[in-house]
Amino acid sequence: MTKKTKLTLEGTTIDLPIIVGSEEEKAIDIGSLRKETGHITLDPSYANTGSCKSDITFIDGEKGILRYRGYPIEELAKKARFSEIAYLLINGELPNNNELADFSNQLTYHSLIHEDMKKFFDSYPMNAHPMGVLASTVAALSTFYPDVQQEPSNLNIIRILAKVKTLAAFSYKKSIGQPLIYPMNDLSYEDNFIRMMFAVPAEEFTVNPVVSDAIRLLLILHADHEQNCSTSTVRMVGSSNANLYISIAAGIGALWGSLHGGANQRVIEMLGMIHKSDNDYKKYIEKAKSKTSKFRLMGFGHRVYKNFDPRAKVLKESAAKLLDKLGIDDPLLDIARNLEEVALNDEFFIERNLYPNVDFYSGIMYRAIGIPTNMFTVMFALGRLPGWIAHWNEMKSDSKTRIYRPRQVYTGHTKRSFVPMDKRS
Ligand code: SDX
Repeated sequence: MTKKTKLTLEGTTIDLPIIVGSEEEKAIDIGSLRKETGHITLDPSYANTGSCKSDITFIDGEKGILRYRGYPIEELAKKARFSEIAYLLINGELPNNNELADFSNQLTYHSLIHEDMKKFFDSYPMNAHPMGVLASTVAALSTFYPDVQQEPSNLNIIRILAKVKTLAAFSYKKSIGQPLIYPMNDLSYEDNFIRMMFAVPAEEFTVNPVVSDAIRLLLILHADHEQNCSTSTVRMVGSSNANLYISIAAGIGALWGSLHGGANQRVIEMLGMIHKSDNDYKKYIEKAKSKTSKFRLMGFGHRVYKNFDPRAKVLKESAAKLLDKLGIDDPLLDIARNLEEVALNDEFFIERNLYPNVDFYSGIMYRAIGIPTNMFTVMFALGRLPGWIAHWNEMKSDSKTRIYRPRQVYTGHTKRSFVPMDKRS
């Protein structure tokens, strides 16, 4: 028996169904609201609005819980391979040995991009931001597969998962003027990416297992996060029947913003700025609190988490371990820890529930691995790819999906007549 609630508007009372999710989240289904009352709801930035039901990822912002298909992120971060997580998010269950072997082989087999795509990389300016290169080359991928709409979606999923890591590594090599390094079929997803990023033709290259495990962890922690800005964008674009490649390219664009995935680059730039100003982190805490300054503590705060982002907890611990294993002493880690310590005891941050988010410590790890700051958001995109694909798939396979088309409340001029030029003042 579906629970209902009553809404009375201008003398009309209607019943609205209450939807209860598997984790007891509750929502009012307003599907009949406009037809029955002539009213719509208004919720700028959708802070209180659910766009869909989803089986993929569960977040409890108050308790700091994050689970992919029911599995706690802390367990997956410790034990899983990234290819397992990609399979889990997209297919709903962890793969058995044969399924994982077949999935990994397909990812390996489809890692190359069409040789003609290399011409794109020659056309970008040397200082092109890798996110601009990634968004445009992923969009261009669709032009090499004209039958994308007719082909089995699984083939396109494999292609995009396999080729985006190659596009990312190629964009990096191009930006430093080094020759492109091609994928090797006997390497894992993580090791192939590391080798394409850091190998040079003239030298033998062996993947450092410490770096490989750090990349594994970083990709898994970024793999999905329910209806965030970029994932909602991928769903929105896909709902118009646009193909998977262009939907993902749109998601890459949304992720680039400094309030979203672009924050990881801004965090390191902020920590570097503090380091240059004699580590005066307290000055920056005060700037972040000031009503007149636009400065924000990058890597802090979250629309959903009103407690610690569980990914930030894992990353804080992993960053310290990685630096220790690599014998790196990065002063920016100490600054980050001090900032966190002061902020978590400051009324301004406490009353606004501002805690470190996924971007606060991730950059310390990327830096230690040797990934340049302008590639940090590309790393976020690589991790988020299976999540975007899983949500695109879920949206496409939902028989109730219609093109996403929000309403508005018009507040502009009421009807007025055209004024010919000679009558205008
Ligand atoms: C990601 O949605 C997701 O799930 C995203 C993500 C994912 O995995 O996909 O988790 C990844 O994008 C993490 C967020 C990365 N962005 C940053 O670190 C940028 C800095 N943080 C913010 O700008 C902000 O906290 C957001 C964008 C993350 C959340 O913004 P909201 O929910 O719109 O909150 P808000 O801007 O309305 O802020 C509420 C109050 C305001 O103060 P008052 O007007 O009440 O006085 O908190 C203040 C804000 O000024 N505030 C901050 C702050 N974040 C919020 N003040 C200082 N520093 C900050 N970082």
